[in-house]
Amino acid sequence: MNKSRPSSIVVLTGAGISAESGVDTFRDKDGIWSKVDFREVATPEGFAADPHKVHAFYNQRRAGLKGIEPNAAHFALARLERAFGGAFLLVTQNIDHLHERAGSQGLIHMHGELANALCGNCGDRRQWEGDLSTDSPCPACHANGYLRPDVVWFGEMPYQMERIYAALAGCDLFVAIGTSGTVYPAAGFIEEARAAGARTLELNLEPTEGTNRFSDAIHGKATEIVPEWVERVLVD
Ligand code: OAD
Repeated sequence: MNKSRPSSIVVLTGAGISAESGVDTFRDKDGIWSKVDFREVATPEGFAADPHKVHAFYNQRRAGLKGIEPNAAHFALARLERAFGGAFLLVTQNIDHLHERAGSQGLIHMHGELANALCGNCGDRRQWEGDLSTDSPCPACHANGYLRPDVVWFGEMPYQMERIYAALAGCDLFVAIGTSGTVYPAAGFIEEARAAGARTLELNLEPTEGTNRFSDAIHGKATEIVPEWVERVLVD
């Protein structure tokens, strides 16, 4: 394996990087999907069947953003973006804003953003701080009943996939942080990176089902292993 300093890095983050900031993960014991049926709150069909329930679920999570702070892993990735001389792309599946609040600038929220509303009528996307309801009129087209959280649900196409695949095709290091690697298309990024000849690294609390697909893996808390890895990349 080539251990030389990478020239182009793609980092994918998942719920595990925000866990130590107090954000629930999805599939861990006591994770969000152990308490709520994802079909009811994270699919277009669930929204059509009971929009009030879906709004209540995301309103609660949006309100919860106010009480959380970025942790050492978010700050380390922001430092990497600033200090790394080569190409760098941070892709997150997370809908919180902890990466931005830690100083990351060029990131892609492939699963959308909790703090945004999307109009199902005109496609307008804009920042939304308070609650959403079926009575909220769209500020752009004024239609009632079409606003929804700007969150990519199961069965929908994540954002900016062309840009992500282009970066994966040109990277020489792909790093997956705090993600179980079970939700596609993000779960397939490692294969894209491998096909491009990149080294691949898993940074996660524990081995995931796909650990063996990575060329390297480091297991531990994100707040410990991510800053340590970033420092190693920057001094190499
Ligand atoms: P998961 O809940 O599936 O996985 C979280 C991963 O983080 C697990 O592998 C944990 O072991 C790991 N983890 C937990 N605490 C950690 C810590 N302190 N440090 C490091 N790792 C830790 O969450 P995601 O993989 O992000 O999509 O889930 C992917 C997508 O599934 C989400 O974006 C969401 C969900 O359904 C949609 O809602 C469309």
